[in-house]
Amino acid sequence: MTMDKTRVKCYSVADYEKQAELKITDTAALGYFNGGTEGTETLRDNLAAFSRYKLRPRHMRDISTINTKQRVLGCDIDFPVVVAPFAFAKMAHPDGEYAVARACAGMDTAFTLSSWTSKSIDDVTKESSTGVKWLQLYLVKDRRVIVNVVRKAERHGFKAILVTIDLKIPSNRLTDKRNQFTMGNSELLRSPNASIDDTDQFHLLSLSWDDISWLKSITKLQVAVKGVMTREDAIEAVQHGVDGIVVSNHGGRALDCVEASIDALSEIVEAVKHSGVDILMDSGIRKGTDVIKALALGAKAVMVGRPIVWGLAVDGENGVKSVLEILKNELRISMGLCGCQSLSDINQTVIKKSTSSRL
Ligand code: FNR
Ligand code: LAC
Repeated sequence: MTMDKTRVKCYSVADYEKQAELKITDTAALGYFNGGTEGTETLRDNLAAFSRYKLRPRHMRDISTINTKQRVLGCDIDFPVVVAPFAFAKMAHPDGEYAVARACAGMDTAFTLSSWTSKSIDDVTKESSTGVKWLQLYLVKDRRVIVNVVRKAERHGFKAILVTIDLKIPSNRLTDKRNQFTMGNSELLRSPNASIDDTDQFHLLSLSWDDISWLKSITKLQVAVKGVMTREDAIEAVQHGVDGIVVSNHGGRALDCVEASIDALSEIVEAVKHSGVDILMDSGIRKGTDVIKALALGAKAVMVGRPIVWGLAVDGENGVKSVLEILKNELRISMGLCGCQSLSDINQTVIKKSTSSRL
């Protein structure tokens, strides 16, 4: 076996981020992956917000076994970090979604296929037949397209559908404008009956909560909504029958100037605490301590977007696996040092909001 001597070993997600910036030579692709909207206030606050929370370790507890297993949206996963949907994985690595799906199966966690996938759902399932798979959907207006896709997902053994609700119209991404970056067509929403084209990609303007009830009525798969940032929407979601809520601001890629996801989490957990729906959270997770903070504030699991893009860009399937391994290992270490044997020990007593955000 020959070793690539030029490759720098990565020990953290931050290391992968640096390497990915060197690896992705197309400025427009890098801008699309890493960018946010308008003044990127939310993008930056998603990261900064985590340092406003501090951990409260308990010592002298038995941590001879540490168990990170979780059940979320009806699926058993080895640790509570799942891969968020992201568009056009092929721009980061030729294996694209195949590599990400295989890495998730290898690490025993869930893979979410984006609506804007660069490989077809049939091919992704063929290339990675094992592992928990979820599908992210933009509920485009043409219901024939949606029914067609949902039936395919059911046939291919997908377990849950995440409906993204926070991008009814394309957001204002200045970096993409400057780079003249345009999104290609979606492999998923292309259908024999109707195809979604570049000029009218979204078709989402009249989307309402009743469409979630409709989706629930046509499938037995678990349905979650992704992009909830307020208690009001969380309550609506529960009233319309969802199985899960992803607290997310789309990684700072949808509306700018909304609060960091980690800051919105408590309000949402509190609002729907008796409903039994699973709460997931994403936007800004980069370390095991971020994961433990989100769980302490009531999330069952977190999703990661850009860290997976970076792992994929640096080393394909192995890079994604390594990023997931790093996060799992960091979570185990933080759990041990906090005195938590299992995820059920991670509760509000493990965290406090700090008055200073200085590091
Ligand atoms: C995304 N995200 C996203 N979300 C979604 O529902 N459908 C999609 O197609 C995409 N596409 C997409 C592309 C890229 C390049 C990124 C970075 C993100 C949002 C994603 O699922 C998730 O909410 C964020 O990435 C979470 O924030 P972090 O982990 O990137 O900070
Ligand atoms: C994005 C879309 C595709 O964030 O969700 O780029």
